[in-house]
Amino acid sequence: MKITVIGAGYVGLVTAACFADLGNEVMCVEKVSSKLEKLCRGISPIYEPGLDEMLQKNIKEGRIHFTDKIEEGVNFSDVIFICVGTPQSESGKADLSQVEEAARQIATYMDRYKLIIEKSTVPVNTHKWVKKTVKRYAKNDIEFDVASNPEFLREGSAIYDFMNPDRIVVGVESEKAKQIFQQLYKPFTDKGYPLLITTPQAAELIKHASNSFLAMKISYINMVADLCEKVGADINEVADGMGYDKRIGRAFLNAGLGYGGSCFPKDVKAFVKIAEDNGIDFSLLKEVEKINQRRREKVIELIEDILWINKDKNIAIWGLAFKPDTDDIREAPSIDIVKSLSQTGANLRLYDPKAMDNYKQLFPESDNLKYVDDKYDAVKDADILVIITEWKEFKEADLSRVKSLMRLPIIVDGRNIYDPKSVRDLGFEYYSIGRP
Ligand code: UDX
Repeated sequence: MKITVIGAGYVGLVTAACFADLGNEVMCVEKVSSKLEKLCRGISPIYEPGLDEMLQKNIKEGRIHFTDKIEEGVNFSDVIFICVGTPQSESGKADLSQVEEAARQIATYMDRYKLIIEKSTVPVNTHKWVKKTVKRYAKNDIEFDVASNPEFLREGSAIYDFMNPDRIVVGVESEKAKQIFQQLYKPFTDKGYPLLITTPQAAELIKHASNSFLAMKISYINMVADLCEKVGADINEVADGMGYDKRIGRAFLNAGLGYGGSCFPKDVKAFVKIAEDNGIDFSLLKEVEKINQRRREKVIELIEDILWINKDKNIAIWGLAFKPDTDDIREAPSIDIVKSLSQTGANLRLYDPKAMDNYKQLFPESDNLKYVDDKYDAVKDADILVIITEWKEFKEADLSRVKSLMRLPIIVDGRNIYDPKSVRDLGFEYYSIGRP
């Protein structure tokens, strides 16, 4: 099939590359010229494992094209995915101006039937506004459908998630739109992946409800972790015991510093706001947010409890990205932690395998904040090592070497990546989350 994707951000680019890889012909519209120039050379502006290779292969085989002209994109195909950004505004509400702009432009240039699909995360009933906008700005009375097809891609495993979805959700209002989706997703349904057909409003809600639920799971387990610390239980044992119950499941029950990233914080906030706009006080989710924020403060307090005085202490930080396998630092727990520690007069040495370039924009180097290219460099003469992101290379670190390099052998492990007994046997003073 021929497909157009508007917006080569995270979701758009993965969607475009994967659909092309499945044999479709894809036109991707990106208006930022610096991004476009990179994309045409098969270089992804974001770090996502496997994405560059997939782009290069499909560019070479002529299945993916890039343009900055929306007109070209609209003419190219009848199936148009809107994958533009929906950033959070001050009030927590999603800023939908880019979605509106895309809808207007599609309307201006369309000259035959179009299936216009929202893939960006949008508040429930946005499809009604998209429909109204296209109708208002279309030059003629051309038939079109608006549908919702939310994405559930995790950064770091987005290609895997796209190709192996737990479910595909499409919200449609016409038989024609339904049939196009059935054809588009046939390679998936042939393999047995479920295609759930709903109304557009249900599809829009599924996205926010799912992400908020997962965020709730994380805050829930983090509260249980606090209780574990008080009563001498191990949170991993508790989470395992809960997780074997199929109704609960073990996923997203890892206690630690809480959630960050471009989705959960934004989606939970937006969902609370959507509920509020509809006269519903979703207080449960407000508590989820509070608990998540408190994780960061707790670890800052813990470090001060351990060091007594932070001033002039050398603090090594391992991990800045909001989670492993990404260079994304949006809403990362590390931000609050680094910000607070840097104000205490401590000397920080930061290391992350991928996120340091992004981080430098936020926290430029200074006398008491340095970036290093190697995790062992970070711990040289450190009084404490704080682990914020659970990168594989930290899990596999040579802890004897770490100990020999540090001034004091103290580890605060915000992601429970080590076995407490083994670390303590090496002579470390070791603090983790929700474990005795
Ligand atoms: C998420 C959703 O999983 C995805 O379906 C959606 O479309 C986009 O948002 P992503 O933000 O890439 O994906 O990250 P995810 O792997 O879901 O993790 C989110 C945050 O939760 C991370 O900060 C992670 O560290 C944290 N987390 C996750 C925990 O603290 N504990 C867990 O058990 C799982």
